Amino acid sequence: MPEREFLYSTALESPAQGLLVDIGSHAGLSACCMGMGASRRSDLLEFTLVCIEPLGTPESTAHDVTHEMLLDNLQEYVKVHTHVHIETSAEVAPQYPEESAALVFVDGDHNYDMVLQDLQLWWAKLKIGGTLACHDYDPTGTVGKALRDFFGDRELTLLPSPCALAYVVK
Ligand SMILES: C[S@@+](CC[C@H](N)C(=O)[O-])C[C@H]1O[C@@H](n2cnc3c(N)ncnc32)[C@H](O)[C@@H]1O
Repeated sequence: MPEREFLYSTALESPAQGLLVDIGSHAGLSACCMGMGASRRSDLLEFTLVCIEPLGTPESTAHDVTHEMLLDNLQEYVKVHTHVHIETSAEVAPQYPEESAALVFVDGDHNYDMVLQDLQLWWAKLKIGGTLACHDYDPTGTVGKALRDFFGDRELTLLPSPCALAYVVK
């Protein structure tokens, strides 16, 4: 899947070091892709994987996932230091400093207001040279509209179809 390869190779090759933030971790697939990429680096100690998934709250749609399942998946595939937050993205953002992230993957609540909120909260957390990527991009859908409203004329890069991932390097 191109989006999995993108997350893996971006974490592996990122010029910026720091947090790898996975918003909407579900059972940990996207987090494992990022974490596995960073785990192969010689400077892996400079990276922390941050997983955000509000399991057991009304916000979460991951009804088939348990905390233990998420931890087991991460433990199996990821060697970099990892923080798992069973909280919403908005609750987690204030816990990290600005310009501390190398990669932010936005794949949580896909409602327009919530995608826009994630962009507002987490763009500030990204370092210069870091990458912010959004999953489920559709030019006429909620993610596309939130990206356009947040970034204005700034160019988005799209991964080739059939994948739907848009990203921006800061
Ligand atoms: C499309 S799934 C993510 C899939 C995951 N990235 C993967 O690779 O398997 C969206 C996830 O976002 C979670 N979510 C919903 N609201 C959220 C919020 N406010 N903050 C963080 N995650 C949220 C849902 O519970 C759901 O598990």
